[in-house]
Amino acid sequence: MSISTILILGGGIAGIASALALSKELTPLVPDLKITIYELRDIPSTSGGAINLTPVAQRHLDQLGVIAELDHMGPDAGVEVNAIEYYSTVTGRKLGCVDFAGKHGRGFGGYRGRRCMRIALQLAMMAAVEKCPNVSFEFGKKVVGGIETEKRVTIYFDDGSSAKGDLALGCDGVHSATRTKIVDPERLSEYTGISFIQSTMKASLVTSPMHFETTALNKSRRGALMTTFCDRDKEDLFVAALAEVDAQNLAETHWKSYWADESSRAKVMAVKRLRDDLRGRFGEAMQPCIREIIEKCPDWFLYPVYQIQPGGKWFTERIILLGDAAHAMPPRDESAAYALDDAILFARILSSYVYEPLTSAFRVYESIRRKPIDDAYRDASIHWSQHKDSSSRSGLSARINEWFMPWSMRARAKKAKHGAWVFDARSVNIPSPAARSWKIESWSDLGSTMSVQ
Ligand SMILES: Cc1cc2nc3c(=O)[nH]c(=O)nc-3n(C[C@H](O)[C@H](O)[C@H](O)COP(=O)(O)OP(=O)(O)OC[C@H]3O[C@@H](n4cnc5c(N)ncnc54)[C@H](O)[C@@H]3O)c2cc1C
Ligand SMILES: *[C@@H]1O[C@H](CO)[C@@H](O)[C@H](O)[C@H]1NC(C)=O
Ligand SMILES: *[C@@H]1O[C@H](CO)[C@@H](O)[C@H](O)[C@H]1NC(C)=O
Repeated sequence: MSISTILILGGGIAGIASALALSKELTPLVPDLKITIYELRDIPSTSGGAINLTPVAQRHLDQLGVIAELDHMGPDAGVEVNAIEYYSTVTGRKLGCVDFAGKHGRGFGGYRGRRCMRIALQLAMMAAVEKCPNVSFEFGKKVVGGIETEKRVTIYFDDGSSAKGDLALGCDGVHSATRTKIVDPERLSEYTGISFIQSTMKASLVTSPMHFETTALNKSRRGALMTTFCDRDKEDLFVAALAEVDAQNLAETHWKSYWADESSRAKVMAVKRLRDDLRGRFGEAMQPCIREIIEKCPDWFLYPVYQIQPGGKWFTERIILLGDAAHAMPPRDESAAYALDDAILFARILSSYVYEPLTSAFRVYESIRRKPIDDAYRDASIHWSQHKDSSSRSGLSARINEWFMPWSMRARAKKAKHGAWVFDARSVNIPSPAARSWKIESWSDLGSTMSVQ
């Protein structure tokens, strides 16, 4: 089999990481390797706020050369996160924390968390691509369909052009056209019922005390408000409310405000509506800084969160879905790490199966990846439902829930760490192509060198 021309559809985290990992693994093996990333946008988008990178995500990005690029960006490189602290807006009580520093404060596998703006991560990833042999980028290319023959895959773009390759990776996110037009048209994205109402502001605008180190999540009965620094110098705050927003309300307030002109009436009205909504949810908060943030944040954006149902088809003869395109789940600060795991694992498998039919590589990939992804999905869904309004529940049950949260969080954190942080795409054992009868019983049987305290 020859796999010299690889088309990567979508230039987000999964797409760029795949290009980096494939270039590294295949350049020595495939002399005429040519990898092209086709990205819908014309320029990297500045929307999307800040992203939290878990220890695993940082470790993978470091290996791919992205952390070095990010660290060149001065204050925009982001801020180290030792823990995400949870508080109650009802009682002011600390409910628990998600720890990234580990027992001895050295992090996990040598890495802690990091919060940076999405645009900074995107630019760092693109800088790493520039140094990478055999990879190029094309912007303004929207995938609209494709066909496969025995020997080639052809992808069509909305500008009327097309590209031919030996292999195509669908890395085009939750609304993936590669999935809905080619691989698995039945599996459409669906609204989770929860949106982020988010913005960034200068921390100096807030005069009441803020006692968290880098990231705090304050839970009310009607959603949670996350406040986090996102730059090295802790001057910029990223604020995001996770809130149950019904689909009707969504349509009214929503996308237009995202794209509207700053000063337009549509935009001003949308921001006002969102601020009123936040007052209703968090206006009674025990913490004065929360009330201040709601009033002083200059604008608000509504960012509805979509997912796809678990399961489904991941590949055809010459196309495979990676990242959110394959398994967008409710976000829980870890999905970027899953996209990176996908990219690294797939590149490793492909380099071992470079002389085999593509579908053998696809099958091995699925046999290793399906179980941890299904587990992560289940866990993320349980966690996510906590952000739904509990005002309809009786005050007592909401209180009991809150009371038990520190315990349940600790138990969950342990489980989640096992699931999400122990799986290591760099070291899981890949069966050799000769071992045809090989079958995986459980992903936990697979070797992993990373140790978690
Ligand atoms: C509100 C929110 C907050 C989140 N916060 C975090 C967090 O803090 N930490 C974390 O780890 N994860 C977080 N996640 C999840 C994380 O953002 C995703 O899991 C991750 O971005 C997935 O990467 P991806 O490359 O698969 O998809 P994406 O990052 O969505 O990239 C897809 C790319 O494909 C392009 N594209 C789309 N359609 C086409 C097309 N038809 N043709 C060509 N290109 C196309 C897009 O423009 C985009 O560049 C969050 C998600 C949401 C919704
Ligand atoms: C790919 O990169 C290698 C190493 O830099 C280089 O020798 C080779 O010519 C490149 N191949 C193509 C098709 O550009
Ligand atoms: C959340 O509550 C804690 C404890 O009351 C407080 O210290 C912190 O500043 C608050 N964080 C915000 C506004 O997110």
